[in-house]
Amino acid sequence: MNDLLPEQSALWQYVESNLRATFSEYAYQEIRPNLIEKTHLFQRSIGELTDIVSKEMYSFSDRNDESLTLRPEGTAGCVRAAIEHSLAYNNTPRLWMMGPMFRYERPQKGRYRQFHQVAAEVFGIDDAHIDVELILMTASLWKKLGIAEHVKLNINSLGSSEDRQAYHSTLVDYFKDNFEQLDEDSKTRLESNPLRILDSKNPDLQALITAAPSILEHLSDESQAKFKLITQCLEAAGVVYHINTRLVRGLDYYNDLVFEWSTQFLGAQDAVCGGGRYDGLFEQLGGQATPAVGFAIGMERLIELVKLSELDTDTAVVDAYIVNLGDRARQYAMIAADKIRSDMPGFKVKTHLGQGSFKSQFKHANKSGATFALIIGDDEVDNSTLTLKYMREDKEQLTATLESIIEVMKNHG
Ligand code: HAM
Repeated sequence: MNDLLPEQSALWQYVESNLRATFSEYAYQEIRPNLIEKTHLFQRSIGELTDIVSKEMYSFSDRNDESLTLRPEGTAGCVRAAIEHSLAYNNTPRLWMMGPMFRYERPQKGRYRQFHQVAAEVFGIDDAHIDVELILMTASLWKKLGIAEHVKLNINSLGSSEDRQAYHSTLVDYFKDNFEQLDEDSKTRLESNPLRILDSKNPDLQALITAAPSILEHLSDESQAKFKLITQCLEAAGVVYHINTRLVRGLDYYNDLVFEWSTQFLGAQDAVCGGGRYDGLFEQLGGQATPAVGFAIGMERLIELVKLSELDTDTAVVDAYIVNLGDRARQYAMIAADKIRSDMPGFKVKTHLGQGSFKSQFKHANKSGATFALIIGDDEVDNSTLTLKYMREDKEQLTATLESIIEVMKNHG
């Protein structure tokens, strides 16, 4: 679990504000479901046999001996909240959320026990165009964040539950016929979750997996038509995709479309965003049948990619740093700082407080990344002026009234 430290927070805020702006452009509304849910919510939705539920949940008993779990993902809680508050009753909410998730995984680069997701979930729309909208939204986000060249879209269809059942038995037969070639992990999965064998990264299994029967050959006409509509729309919108019949995802609730954006730039943990349709989940959790689709982006991985982009992320913490000496100057500085903030919304002003000679205060000003230092000593207080020094340019400093200094800073390119 990682603390987010002050030097990282500016970039996080930059990315988060781009995410918020994108959701707002698509008219999605924010939801903030609980961080803790009853354990059986995740068992029933994500699936008992998945890695997440069988090995990775932070579960504990509360004082009433009820088993609770820190959410390992957001979809289950979001659907629970939608059922509880009838959000999808005569309504088709398009929602987004952001926050921490918890999985007891083996930590490595890009994989943490507390990590953050930003997600979108849409309820009540039985039309594959909404699946496309979600993908287009992610694609526009990558563009905004300057990482479109760093990610690749994989899509697949898991069909209806009947399609999957038929495929399931074909796949089990195939792997049973080749049982001696499977590794231990896959032999276990053959019993519990054979589709996940397709996901194996073991190089020795790749040839066997490549030759396995494809799920796309087991789709009903209806599921085939939905998948076709999605691919056609993506082509019309100019979004490049790869059909990856081995993409099965690690959660059990999906049907029809599943997708993942992956990258070559982050090592083994290459999935930046994953999602798909989960039309059965509302009913499974005791709600009315409600079609649903969504995705989640891993924030830590997204941030790493944004660091690789050429974008100027404008993460300066301070624009003007006020250097001051003595009690009179300090009081004058506080009042001047507030006047600047009210005249220049968004402009970041920091007043030096605590000890320090002018020299050491300038060091702080320099380190802060500020464009300007504003100097206040006894002369400035006596004459009701400020001295402006350019920290990043070779320009002469000037002494003037606060109003004139504000004008100079406003007009600075
Ligand atoms: P997921 O594929 O389990 O899907 O997670 C989505 C993303 O979260 C991953 O692609 C990855 O970027 C990030 N992620 C997952 N685990 C970790 C970890 N341990 N450390 C860092 N990042 C991680 C879901 O959670 C589904 N709820 C997505 C969804 C929403 N499907 C429909 N609606």
